[in-house]
Amino acid sequence: MKQKLLDNLAQYGQEHLLRFWDRLDPRQQESLAAEIAKIDFALVHRLYERQDEDHTRALADRAGPPPAVRMDATDNRFSHKAARERGQEALAAGEIAAVVVAGGQGTRLGFEQPKGMFPIGPLSRNSLLQILTEKVVATGKRHGVPVPMAVMTSPATHEPTQRFLAEHNHFGLSEDNVLVFCQGTMPAVDAQTGKVLLAAKDRIALSPDGHGGMLAAMARGGVLDSLVQRGIRTLFYFQVDNPLVQFGSAEFIGHHRLTDSELSTQVIAKQAPRERVGNVVEVNGRLHVIEYSDLPDDVAERRTADGSLAIWAGSIAVHLMDTAFLQRMAGQAEALPFHRAHKKVPYVAEDGRLVEPQEPNGLKFERFIFDLIPAARNAMVVEIDRRQGFAPLKNAPGAAEDTPEHVRAQMVAEHRRWLAAAGATVGGGVQVEISPLFALDIEETSQKIEPGTQVTQDTYFRIE
Ligand code: UTP
Repeated sequence: MKQKLLDNLAQYGQEHLLRFWDRLDPRQQESLAAEIAKIDFALVHRLYERQDEDHTRALADRAGPPPAVRMDATDNRFSHKAARERGQEALAAGEIAAVVVAGGQGTRLGFEQPKGMFPIGPLSRNSLLQILTEKVVATGKRHGVPVPMAVMTSPATHEPTQRFLAEHNHFGLSEDNVLVFCQGTMPAVDAQTGKVLLAAKDRIALSPDGHGGMLAAMARGGVLDSLVQRGIRTLFYFQVDNPLVQFGSAEFIGHHRLTDSELSTQVIAKQAPRERVGNVVEVNGRLHVIEYSDLPDDVAERRTADGSLAIWAGSIAVHLMDTAFLQRMAGQAEALPFHRAHKKVPYVAEDGRLVEPQEPNGLKFERFIFDLIPAARNAMVVEIDRRQGFAPLKNAPGAAEDTPEHVRAQMVAEHRRWLAAAGATVGGGVQVEISPLFALDIEETSQKIEPGTQVTQDTYFRIE
């Protein structure tokens, strides 16, 4: 077996992967051989040699603002009311499913379990997955049709996520409405040499192939077809780390449908030219997302006549994607390019020692879901207020932003706002949290809370 593997690896200069072969037991040899068999070394070689370079920088020069539904505009094509009604129709017809991506490694947060299990609830300490799943459950109840939820995991998060959902009875969703599927992986390579890194003597340094791996994984595992067979026309996509996501927003869904868009995305108005969010732009009638790191300063600084930013729309990774569009794209193997990320990748050195690099040493290859946008017909954006729909959990406690403390504070502030709008008085410094099963939004809070209600101590609002 060794010689056959070596012959194959030699074509790509990757023979070092068998450096420790003779010291492995047969079981370890078998698992290493199986990992090697799954890798497309020609692709890895091409990606390392930059033959698949992406052209986002060139796009930036021609970038303009995207077609958008703005929060304060009076000239939107469809009224908020018309959109809400159209969205409610789609939800009541059972045409919408949720898809949450939860395959990331959560490196920055430094939590030892999958990020979805992080106890984010400011008072309840409920997990991200619980809060998000309850939004899906509540949306189904509101419209009288259960909403299925697809959950994308990766080899590292698959088993614990599945177990966690099962242990909690899928947080109120019926089992047949939860579709957990695992994304693929890509090997990390040494940035200097292009050699694939070993994570252990018998294991390759593999990492998830990016949230864009969703398309191939959904198609491969039959999840996409199964959703289509159930009559799902549109997927409501979000990330596992944003507990404020306005899941099931009828208005967003309605604008998507009324525009006859194949892919619509929620955005926030950027506060600064170089804010660290993806920029949604239009180039030659097509929408694109340009990463903040790829946006040249002069383009980022461009202003319109009224002094506002020309490149204003910041992506928050909340998308509506039509299933017919995804089926079409899944048929085109190279629909999504790979991006290269320079990261710290622990590896086994020639002498067999495990090295924990202090500086980025490796390249990881990832696909991004937003690279689908240029291919979508009538793609457009819908603006929301960031405080009301975007609180990403990225960093460990103590960091400058996107920490558990920041996310909890934002949840409390948003729920205080809902209560205030319902006519309640919430004492200064009082913490509140509203379960999605109690109320999903400001209107529902107003239906449940009597005007004049005094909230004088920390309160978690939930159904009894
Ligand atoms: P991030 O790129 O922020 O990565 O993912 P992360 O795993 O949360 O954190 P770091 O960068 O390692 O610190 C954004 C969203 O995309 C999902 C994540 O689970 C998160 O919901 N994702 C990311 C995947 O599902 N698969 C991937 O390969 C990458």
